[in-house]
Amino acid sequence: MGKKILIIGGSPRKSGNTATVAGWVAEGAEFAGASVKIVDAARLKYKIAGCCSCYGCQVSQQFRCVILDETTDVVASFPEYDVVVFASPVYFFGLSAQIKMLIDRMFSLFKFSDGKTIHKLQKVNFALISTCGGDLDDSGIALVDDTIKKIVHFIGKTHQSLLIPSLPPALEQIAKREDVKEKAVEFGKKLANW
Ligand SMILES: Cc1cc2nc3c(=O)[nH]c(=O)nc-3n(C[C@H](O)[C@H](O)[C@H](O)COP(=O)(O)O)c2cc1C
Repeated sequence: MGKKILIIGGSPRKSGNTATVAGWVAEGAEFAGASVKIVDAARLKYKIAGCCSCYGCQVSQQFRCVILDETTDVVASFPEYDVVVFASPVYFFGLSAQIKMLIDRMFSLFKFSDGKTIHKLQKVNFALISTCGGDLDDSGIALVDDTIKKIVHFIGKTHQSLLIPSLPPALEQIAKREDVKEKAVEFGKKLANW
């Protein structure tokens, strides 16, 4: 059976660099037999911005945020996927605020007690798609990659990443980048066969 892949888009620009690259990754993954769902984190309706540290999820028996809004089901569904992909532009040397808000709600997927951490993400692989304007060394894209690496390592897994630096901000440019498209489609195929 084909892999189930969830891509979380974290850019406020609907047809921007990150969304375009994520679309190509989805295309490659679907071509290789995966089913892909794309969720636009920038357009989910939030009751709160990020996690409010209520620790309600730690009291609850469920692995689900107790704040009920459009993020709740998306995050709670992570264990159902073979691969969860975070797609974020680099904003001030880090993840976009839009995707960070959703990532912080992942606190609800863990139970922390007596020095032990329990979660249900053993079967999930994680990946990152990131785009930026600067080059590989100075843009902060390596920091974004490292952040996801740390999160995924904490879960007990490794991640794969597609980092696309040096992109101009003009919206019409990215669609013409056949070189980026090729890399993204290949990355999608790789995720489908992970
Ligand atoms: C608020 C903001 C902060 C940014 N910060 C960085 C940065 O720290 N490093 C970088 O290389 N590019 C930075 N950029 C450029 C974006 O990362 C780049 O244009 C990206 O491809 C935009 O993706 P999008 O079209 O999906 O929004 C920034 C852009 C914005 C709007």
